[in-house]
Amino acid sequence: MNDAEVLPATRPLRGTATVPADKAISHRGAILGALATGTTRLRDFSSAGDCRSTLGVLRALGAGVEEGDEEVRVVGWGEGGPKEPGAALDCGRSGTTMRLVCGALAAFPLKAVLTGDPQLMARPMERVAEPLRAMGATVATAAGGVPPIGLRGGALRGIEYAMPVASAQVKSAVLLAGLRAEGPTTVIEGVPSRDHTERMLGAMGASVAASEARGGRRRVRVEPSSLKAVELTVPGDPSSAAPLLVAAALVSGSDLTVAGVGLNPTRTGLLDVLRGMGAKIEAEDTSADVEPAGDVRIRHRALHGRDVGASEIPSMVDELPLLGLLATQAEGVTEVRGAQELRVKESDRIAVLVTGLRALGANVEELPDGFVVTGPTPLHGADVNAAGDHRMAMTFAVAALVASGPVRVSGMQTVGDSFPGFMATLQGVR
Ligand code: S3P
Repeated sequence: MNDAEVLPATRPLRGTATVPADKAISHRGAILGALATGTTRLRDFSSAGDCRSTLGVLRALGAGVEEGDEEVRVVGWGEGGPKEPGAALDCGRSGTTMRLVCGALAAFPLKAVLTGDPQLMARPMERVAEPLRAMGATVATAAGGVPPIGLRGGALRGIEYAMPVASAQVKSAVLLAGLRAEGPTTVIEGVPSRDHTERMLGAMGASVAASEARGGRRRVRVEPSSLKAVELTVPGDPSSAAPLLVAAALVSGSDLTVAGVGLNPTRTGLLDVLRGMGAKIEAEDTSADVEPAGDVRIRHRALHGRDVGASEIPSMVDELPLLGLLATQAEGVTEVRGAQELRVKESDRIAVLVTGLRALGANVEELPDGFVVTGPTPLHGADVNAAGDHRMAMTFAVAALVASGPVRVSGMQTVGDSFPGFMATLQGVR
């Protein structure tokens, strides 16, 4: 299924849907589980292709990984450390796998090469290589700072690292390396990014603390620590709930609930923006776990445009293409700035979004660090290219619901990177 033809919605979206478990939390549960002593049990582990890449890499490094129907169990390599891999570690299409595993391995005396699919081989890796080098690891990237990464780990020293980009992946890599460094490691974030790593490190017994610094900055400090296995239930992925919620926000008369969604405030930017645009949303944390979670109900209302600036980007970084689509049907102007990171995701999401939305009839202007949409404009059927990017494929499939004719999306198979069964789930609530 490389191409998919998606038809306009003929009725509102109604009922209750569930989505795959959180990809970011699943990656971290497995990687931290491998670093821990004992067996970590991860109920409702993500079915996403990217998380399968993480499990494959951890197996190659000697962690025990057992996949049951309801849970994944990871038997950590404990104090003995990972085994030196006999071949390059294949991170598939997953940037999170590559960047976090570099951090997890940096303090161990071994050599590893990290590689992946062509799409991943074009993504920037100096952002993790540089701080890990400053801690004492030997890290090589190919010309242009891209994979493969050649890593030789060893004794590390803790650093204080002010992050040049807002990236939870970089923050996590440095914190994981800091677990076995000499002295404390501190990461300073200009804008807070998702904090799943910090929460999970705390739950596994690490000495980790975060404090707000001046100007919205955040300092996260980890002391050398060993980790104990945990049991946790992974909530539904808010980034996978997002296309369904946006579909309901767009299709008149919709009243949709997505059950059991992660509500970590570092991930719920889209819900805040949707509310600000006029949608009616109810979401309440009903979880007693490390990660907040609950049902999210959305009811369609007329939407109006809303600007989004740099301080809001990390909490909705993967949802920004969907915001661009929403804005085409909202009254007025929506300007997104400070989102230059979108250019180095699975595709250049600014360029792919602008090209695709224009093909559908939208009024969109491209900015170096974002886009401006003026709405509302009627969308029509067209051929659009998701550029091998799962989030773009889902965005264009949702656009089809409010287009006047069929939308043919090329690259639809990539939805499996984060949301296997996406089209069936969308069909089920139409
Ligand atoms: C992720 C962080 C984000 C996000 C990616 C997953 C993570 O990347 O886009 O899909 O799991 O930490 P950056 O924090 O590097 O922007």
